[in-house]
Parts: sequence; structure tokens; C-alpha cells
Amino acid sequence: MYTLGEFIIDNKKYFSHSIESLLRLFSAIKLAAKAIHKEVNKAGLTKNIGSSGKTNIQGEKQQKLDFFAHNIFINSFRNRDVVCGIASEESKNFIILNKKECTSDNKYIVLIDPLDGSSNIDVNVPIGTIFSVYKYKKKYNNYHLTINDFLQKGYKQILAGYIIYGSSTILVYTTGNGVHGFTLDPSIGTFYLSHPNIVFPNENKIYSINDGNYVKFSNGIKKYIKYCHKEKKNGMPYTARYIGSLVGDFHRNMIKGGIYIYPNTSLYPMGKLRLLYECNPIAFITEQAGGKAIDGHKRILEIKPIDLHQRTPFICGPKNMVSKLEEFI
Ligand code: AHG
Ligand code: MN
Ligand code: MN
Repeated sequence: MYTLGEFIIDNKKYFSHSIESLLRLFSAIKLAAKAIHKEVNKAGLTKNIGSSGKTNIQGEKQQKLDFFAHNIFINSFRNRDVVCGIASEESKNFIILNKKECTSDNKYIVLIDPLDGSSNIDVNVPIGTIFSVYKYKKKYNNYHLTINDFLQKGYKQILAGYIIYGSSTILVYTTGNGVHGFTLDPSIGTFYLSHPNIVFPNENKIYSINDGNYVKFSNGIKKYIKYCHKEKKNGMPYTARYIGSLVGDFHRNMIKGGIYIYPNTSLYPMGKLRLLYECNPIAFITEQAGGKAIDGHKRILEIKPIDLHQRTPFICGPKNMVSKLEEFI
């Protein structure tokens, strides 16, 4: 049984930054993940279920667990000295964790979607956490964090991953050296390597899109859906799967082979998913698993962010499926 900590140390030669910092980052991530796992598993028994009665910066209903997960991650990172600032889907502005810490090397910027798929909390459907980490770039004689420290292009991520709270709790991450998954043994609170070197399989036949938005899609997307409905040469049709948790939909598609599509619609002209908290980290993982992630035209990881909460159309999956969809766009 290979633990996450041992795996990181054994693979340190593939990580071009400080391994000690990576271990500290993971120490915070693992702790927060375990706390959220525990809370999610008893959500129906506690008062931590349902809406908080508030809306977030994006005008979406905040669930109590959204807020719980946000606070757990902030506190967990605050107690490590490697992170100088965090931006979260649940907070309007970025949060400065420790000004002093940003005066030295090996400090990091974290962006998180603390609870993804939160509309699924109350109905026992998998939900997740998505995280994205960048190196903090020390500025000459000026150690103040600015918005630009957070608005980095996705290809500059040094670590990205997600935790899925599903039939079991799994942590999946990449540092640019493949994608690896670790399953939590909740009885002793340890993550063990269960999915080394994940890549999209050769046979890909799942497509995931919220079909209820059909009338709001562009013609290209409509045509691609029609293409998915048609019988293929081998007589095997595609399978539609969509649960409404990006983490859950993506994880299934990466393991079983499928494309995930959240295009721009007349309701969401810029798309619905958030570039910094959702699309960049999932795009980094997609590419590391041998896939492709685009906004319909451009590689997601090359988009220059201009706003913390900016949205983007998002398509990710195996290269052949994404390229096929591009033909229709
Ligand atoms: P969040 O719960 O973090 O706001 O994210 C919800 C996102 C994503 O997880 C999911 O894929 C998508 O919203 C579902 O949107 P629709 O309900 O519009 O299909
Ligand atoms: Mn989300
Ligand atoms: Mn969320």
C-alpha cells in the first residue's frame, strides 16, 4: 500500500519546485479533504445541509457545505506557511493569508472551488473540490499581493487536482508528470495510490452535456449532439451521461472515455464554468491524461484571465472526440 506522501517523495525528481513545499501544500489539502469527507458523509444528520440563504458573488445560491468547505480550506492553508494568497469561488476578493510569507521563495498562490456540484449535496450525488496552484512571483522590492498574482495563464500551474466525494473519496492530481489518483481509507484517514498514471482509454463513447439547454446551444453544438445520436460504424451508439457535478462527470469520463461539454448558451453567453477555479485545473489534468481542453476555439491553458470569477465555455476529453467536435464548430 503506497501512501500519497511516499509517492510524492519517491517522484521528487520529476517535480521542478521545492518538494518540501509540495508536501506542505498536500498536508493542507489532505486535511481539508478529510474534514469535508467526514462532513459530507453525515450531511443528512447534521444542520450542514441545504441552502445558507445567501448567494455568492456570481449570484448563485450558496449551500451551507459550500461555506463549510471554503472555511476549512482557508484555515487549513493558513496554518501552513507556503501559501500567501487564496482565491475561492465563494469569495468576492482574494484572501491574503500571510504577508510576511510572501517575502521569501517557494511560496504559492492557490485557487479553489471548495465544493463543486453543490446542488447535488442534498440528494447524495457525488460532489467534489477542485484546486489549482501557481508559484508566487516575487516582485522587485514589493511583496504586496495583487490581483495579477492570481490572473496567471493556466499552463503556469505547478499543481492541480480534485477530490471527489463519491462512492469512495478519491484525490486526483498532476504536477505535470502524469495524473495519479489516491483513495481515502476513512478508517485510518490515509490516501493510498489506487489509480497510477491515469490516461483516457482508447475506446471513447460517452458524451456529457446538459441536454436541457439544447435550444440555447449554437448550431455547431446541436449538430455534434445529433452526430452523437447517430449509430456508429461498429454499430455501437454513444452513451449520454450527465450528473451536474463537473468533478464527477469529468472523473467518470477520464476513467471510462468520454467528452465533457459546457458550451456558451444564450443564457450563459460566456459559458457557465469558471476559468480559474474549474476549467484551468481540469484542463491541466486533461492534457496530462492525454486529452485536449478548449473553449471551442482556443486551448484553455493559454487564455489570459482578466477577472477572478470569469467564466468560459469548456470542452474537454480525449483528443479524438474533442477534435471531432471542433469540426462541427
Ligand atoms: P458549483 O457547484 O461549484 O457552482 O459548480 C456547478 C457547475 C459544475 O459542477 C456542473 O458541471 C455545472 O455547474 C452544472 O451546471 P448545469 O446545472 O447548468 O448543468
Ligand atoms: Mn464548481
Ligand atoms: Mn462550488
